[in-house]
Amino acid sequence: NTGGENPGKKAAGIAAADLVKDGMVVGLGTGSTTAYTIAELGRRVREGLDIIAVVTSYQSEMLAIEAGITLTTLAEHPELDIAIDGADQVDSSLSTIKGGGAAHTREKVVSRSAKRFVIVADESKVSEKLEHYVPIEVLPYARELVAKQVKELGGKPELRMAARKDGPVITDNGNFVIDASFGIIDDPKEMSAKLSQLTGIVEHGIFTNVDEVYIGKKDGSVEIRKL
Ligand code: A5P
Repeated sequence: NTGGENPGKKAAGIAAADLVKDGMVVGLGTGSTTAYTIAELGRRVREGLDIIAVVTSYQSEMLAIEAGITLTTLAEHPELDIAIDGADQVDSSLSTIKGGGAAHTREKVVSRSAKRFVIVADESKVSEKLEHYVPIEVLPYARELVAKQVKELGGKPELRMAARKDGPVITDNGNFVIDASFGIIDDPKEMSAKLSQLTGIVEHGIFTNVDEVYIGKKDGSVEIRKL
């Protein structure tokens, strides 16, 4: 959804398209910032850029088709040259929380399949420490068990409900999402490891594999942060 233009998101999303070169296999993220990247890549494809791409959601699939980008699958291309994706929050060590759009499971698979993983975000997403809730995709059958385990870790679990449907959000993979609030997360790697061990989860939204972040400012400038 790019309605109501956000100059920071637009600047970051478009700037990251520069990283994509002829012959690359590209992972396309989900969300309103990546939508700018996908549209820009489509523009460049029409000018002759030669790429193929893997999507992370039905949303990015629709946008990529609309943009005229040739799609492939991870089965055909298990190694991606680059993945570009949005974020809900990024901390000073580039640890990132994703999944506000319930797409983090496929996003994590795609980012882990890529040689280089780049986040695009406007400056409102950047924070010294992570304190955003952590989206956790769960098997519907295991929702109460996961909620109990989140509480045991000191978190507050909330089953994500749909905005325009009665009942819970269903992910692109047919699962539920539990949003777990932990307050400030001092050690994202440790929290990530703990959440990965919970029984009944499919994937959680802490990403510790980000190589660089493109931060778009209101004035249209872009700051690039790397480790
Ligand atoms: C999808 O589940 C998320 O991980 C998105 O990548 C993230 O929410 C993107 O946010 P923006 O819409 O602000 O780019």
